[in-house]
Amino acid sequence: MNFEEKIDKSKLPQHIAIIMDGNGRWAKAKGQPRVMGHRAGVKTVRRITEACAKIGVKYLTLYAFSTENWNRPAFEVNALMRLLVETLNKEVKVLNKNKIQLQTIGDLSKLPSRSRKAMEKAIEDTANNNRMRLTLALNYSGRWEITEAARTLAQKAKNGELDPKDINDDLFAAALTTHDMPDPELLIRTSGETRLSNYLLWQLAYSEFYFTPLNWPDFMEEDLHEAIYIYQNRERRFGKTSEQIK
Ligand code: IPE
Ligand code: IPE
Ligand code: MG
Repeated sequence: MNFEEKIDKSKLPQHIAIIMDGNGRWAKAKGQPRVMGHRAGVKTVRRITEACAKIGVKYLTLYAFSTENWNRPAFEVNALMRLLVETLNKEVKVLNKNKIQLQTIGDLSKLPSRSRKAMEKAIEDTANNNRMRLTLALNYSGRWEITEAARTLAQKAKNGELDPKDINDDLFAAALTTHDMPDPELLIRTSGETRLSNYLLWQLAYSEFYFTPLNWPDFMEEDLHEAIYIYQNRERRFGKTSEQIK
C-alpha cells in the first residue's frame, strides 16, 4: 500500500510549512550551476502545491528566501529574484485553475521593484481562490517578524490604544504576519539539515518536525504523503501524559 492510501483524510494537517533546502547541492551533484537547482526546485513547488491542494491541506507555507539569503553571491540573489518574477508570471493561470490563493509573508519592501510588483499582482489575481492558500516567505525571518510585532504593540501602548496588561499569546499572534492562519501542525525540511534557519519561530512552537535527506528538487508527491503519514502516527501530547491523550 502506498502512503497516499494510508493517510487518514479526516486527520490531515491543516497547515504544512516547508523549508525547501538542497537546490544548490542537487545541482552540484549533477555538475550543474546552482541556479539549475533553483529551476528544478520551482518544479517541486508546483508538484507539492498541487499535491497539498489535492489531498485537502488548507495552508501551505514555503520558505523561499530568508533575510540571511541576501548574503549569497549577488549573481545567485539576482537569479533567484528573476526566477521569482518568471515563475509568478507563468503560474498564476495554474493557481487560478486549481483555486489556490497566493500570499506572502516577509519584508517585500526590500525586494527589487519588479519582483515586488509581480508578487503583488499575483496576490491580487488569485485573491478570490479559496481551496488552499499558498504563502511564500520572502525576505522573511522569524526574529524580524517577532521584532516587528513587538514594535507594533509598543507603539499602540504608547498611543494609549493598548494596555500592556492585555498582551497575551493571542494578542501577540494577532500582530504577526500569519495572524489569519492556524499554526502549522507539520514542518518539513529537505536536504538533511536539521535546523530552523530563522523560520516561523513563534508559529512552530508545537509543530511536528519531519526531516528528510532528499534534496528539494527530488522531493516527490509520495514523499509528502509519507511525511503526512508519519505526522499522523506521532502522539501530540501538548504537555499532557500519554494516558491523558488516550
Ligand atoms: C534552497 O536551496 C533554496 C534557497 C535557500 C533559496 P539552497 O540554495 O539553500 O541549496 P543548498 O542548501 O545550498 O544545497
Ligand atoms: C533556509 O535555507 C532558507 C530557505 C529555504 C529560503 P538556507 O539554505 O538559506 O539555510 P542555512 O543557511 O543552511 O541555514
Ligand atoms: Mg540551503
